[in-house]
This record gives sequence, C-alpha cells and structure tokens, in this order.
Amino acid sequence: MLKGKSLIEPMDLTLAELDEILKLADEIIQDPAAYADRCKGKVLATLFYEPSTRTRLSFESAMLRLGGSVMGFSSAESSSAAKGESVADTIRTVACYADIAAMRHPKEGAPMVAAMYANIPVINAGDGGHQHPTQTLTDLLTIKTLKGKLNNFTIGLCGDLKFGRTVHSLIKALSRYENIKFVLISPDELRVPDYIREEILMKNGIEFMEVERLENVIGQLDVLYMTRVQKERFFNEADYVRLKDSYIVDNKKMSNAKNDMILMHPLPRVNEISVEVDSDPRAAYFTQAKCGMFVRMALIMKLLGVE
Ligand code: NCD
Repeated sequence: MLKGKSLIEPMDLTLAELDEILKLADEIIQDPAAYADRCKGKVLATLFYEPSTRTRLSFESAMLRLGGSVMGFSSAESSSAAKGESVADTIRTVACYADIAAMRHPKEGAPMVAAMYANIPVINAGDGGHQHPTQTLTDLLTIKTLKGKLNNFTIGLCGDLKFGRTVHSLIKALSRYENIKFVLISPDELRVPDYIREEILMKNGIEFMEVERLENVIGQLDVLYMTRVQKERFFNEADYVRLKDSYIVDNKKMSNAKNDMILMHPLPRVNEISVEVDSDPRAAYFTQAKCGMFVRMALIMKLLGVE
C-alpha cells in the first residue's frame, strides 16, 4: 500500500511498488484523458529551495493533468526560509493547505525531516548531492519504454558520480534488478561515494568497474547515462573549471556505440552532450523529460490513494 507514504529515497519503495508505479505510468501514457479528473479537489505543494525546470514543472503539470491544483514556491528567497523559518515549521504549515508536497532542498536530509513532521506525503525532489528518487522513476520508465525491460543490460554512468544525486538513486534502484552491470566513468575526484560502492554494489555482489575514459567502454554499453558536473556542490571554482568538460559526447563518440544503445541525461546539460547528437535516434533525453511527467502522475495517484 503506497497510500499516505512519503518517498525520500528509492529503497522506500519495494520492487513490487516500483513496478506498480511504472505500470500505472504506462497505462496513463496509453490513455491520458482517462485520468483527467482523478485528483480533482486535491492540492499539490511544490517547495523548491533550489533551482529546477523539469522536476518542478513536471510535478505541476502532472497534478494539473490529473485535475488537481498546485501551489508553492520556486526559490528559498520567496518563502519564509529567507526569514529563518525551519523546514519542520514550513512543512507543518504547508500540510494545512495541501494534500501532498514535493520538496527540493540543498541540504541532504531536509525532505526526510519534512516527512517526519508532516501528516501528508512528502516527496523528495532532490536533496543536495544525496538522492533524487523521482528522477529515478523517470529513468526507469524511460529505459523500460525504450528497451522493453529493466534487467540484463550494461549501463554506463558518466560524469559527476560524486555529487550527482540522480546517479546515486539510479544505482540504488537498478541494483535490485537481475543482471545489471555498471560501468562507472568519471575523473578520479568525481568517483561514486563510498557508501554507494560498498553498501550497494559490493555488498550485493553487483558487477561494476570504474574507469576514466569513455572512449574505451562506450561500445559495450546498452545505456549511457551522462551527467552534468554539479557546479553548485563544488568548494572551489578552479576544481570545477578543471573538471567541467571532462566528457563531451559527440557524433564521433556515438559512432562507436551500439546501434541500439540509448543515450540518457537527466538534464540540464551544459557541454556533456554536443547538440549535434540531438538528431541521433539513440538520443533519449527529451523522451526522458516527458516520461518524468507521466511517472509523477502515477506516483501522485498512488501516494494519494486515488485509483
Ligand atoms: C538533476 C538534478 O536536479 O539533480 N536535474 C533534474 O532533476 N532533472 C540533474 C542536474 O541538475 O544536473
């Protein structure tokens, strides 16, 4: 039963619940009109203390397309956080006005604190360099839609694997499916955090390798997941400038990839994927953005317990 639950990290969902959400998302894609008033009278609050385009707008679009309403703020400056209000007080207030809330916060753990104080479902829409479970739902729906399965493939995750919360959540979720091999491609300084390597990959006996050069491995991949170097999480500008263009996927690199590889990116991209690649049929990042709205429709319905 998902009704009334919060979603803070991927492991909050059992594999069966995850599949249930993906199945409903797929049904919505087949016949969106059938869901147009499922959330009539319900209110979603979007509490965004950090910039966002896709996550916030896809949440809002999802609720509007279910016939519900939305309210919220898109920066800490425009909320009482600017006056020093705590997350615990803000969420208890918001819970008086809304039925469900999505929160993005620069501090790791803030949405979890909110969930502890709220009597409505709280969805983590990204907390610092930690987790981003709804991007993961988006990514899983994209892979399932385009490759027809969520098992037996090799996925390359490339770029900022240290601060990239989308990567951490995706590894966690995929680690529960059969025979997934990970190729982790990053500069030495931006390797995945120890807790991902040790607690998720090694502990579960999952096959993975860590490499620095994308060129050497691109031909082995069924999915390539590019990420942006997370400028806002760096302590100094010089390190960011040195690392920001470590990887750029262009047509030349794509010529060495499998014909049925899919190229993903949570977006926003900076330079990681050259725009010349956009017309390659393997480029899946805008499909991915669209999947994000459908999967959030399914998630909202499940957490609110509307069928
Ligand atoms: C990502 C995020 O916010 O973590 N964006 C998103 O939600 N689609 C990735 C990023 O900002 O690089």
